[in-house]
Amino acid sequence: MKNLTLKTLAASAVLVAGLLSPAHAAGDAKHPEAMDWSFNGPTGTFDRNALRRGFQVYKEVCASCHGLSQVSFRNLSQDGGPEFSEAEVKAIAAEYTVEDGPDSYGDMFERPALPKDRFVEPYPNENAGRAANGGAYPPDLSLITKARSGGADYIHALLTGYSEAPEGVEMRPGLYYNPYMPGGKIAMPSPLLEDIIEYGDGTPATIEQMSSDVVQFLTWAAEPELEARKRTGIMVLIYLTIFAGLMYFSMRKIWADQH
Ligand code: HEC
Repeated sequence: MKNLTLKTLAASAVLVAGLLSPAHAAGDAKHPEAMDWSFNGPTGTFDRNALRRGFQVYKEVCASCHGLSQVSFRNLSQDGGPEFSEAEVKAIAAEYTVEDGPDSYGDMFERPALPKDRFVEPYPNENAGRAANGGAYPPDLSLITKARSGGADYIHALLTGYSEAPEGVEMRPGLYYNPYMPGGKIAMPSPLLEDIIEYGDGTPATIEQMSSDVVQFLTWAAEPELEARKRTGIMVLIYLTIFAGLMYFSMRKIWADQH
């Protein structure tokens, strides 16, 4: 009898642990490796060169399928980001064409993008995006590092984690095996291939390098004020420490007179 109770207890413990484990919540997806990002921790900052390279990866690889609708070109020159010069930002924007108008005749017209414009969407609408990708919609990447649990670590693992489907896993055409994607199947073919781009600064374009750079760029895009926020946090801590010290000594002084 006692044995049976113990067994039941053990079984329920296993069941509860199973229900609570994040692997279960994520549909048995492989857990992403925790990376040592420069922006981690209370004093973390972005690596400017990585942000610039990451922008290049986004622009030359991801932008053909994914929008970045919350970012405007001029954000690229702001403090705490890739910090391109204003002339560089003008040149980057001018490579894109946007629709503007109506003009004085009431017609819409096209013009080269200006720094105030936002990144140009790859598709005119969601249906066009789905039609081009076998029914799956490539999500906007502006907030993706915040929108997915695991954030930067998850996206890095996803981009570098493509592999052959294991024995027994049936893959429909247009789906690719990726153990980090909940369910193991993703409609995005591996976007990064060795040397698919040539970095402006000469860094070798390995899959690992491009993935790490683009993830840092996307983390910045999702939280452009990260460095300012961390600076404020540190200032508040310093202030509170000094304030606590002053309080301590003044209280001692005040109470010393009471004896
Ligand atoms: C050929 C088009 C194409 C390219 C190029 C492409 N993607 Fe995708 N991506 C997709 C599609 C389609 C999906 C939706 C997949 C799905 O839902 O199964 C997707 C999904 C994603 C997701 C979301 C995964 C999730 O958890 O739902 C991320 C993150 C992502 N892509 C990042 C990137 C990055 C970064 C690049 C550039 C290095 C890139 N993609 C290049 C088509 C593309």
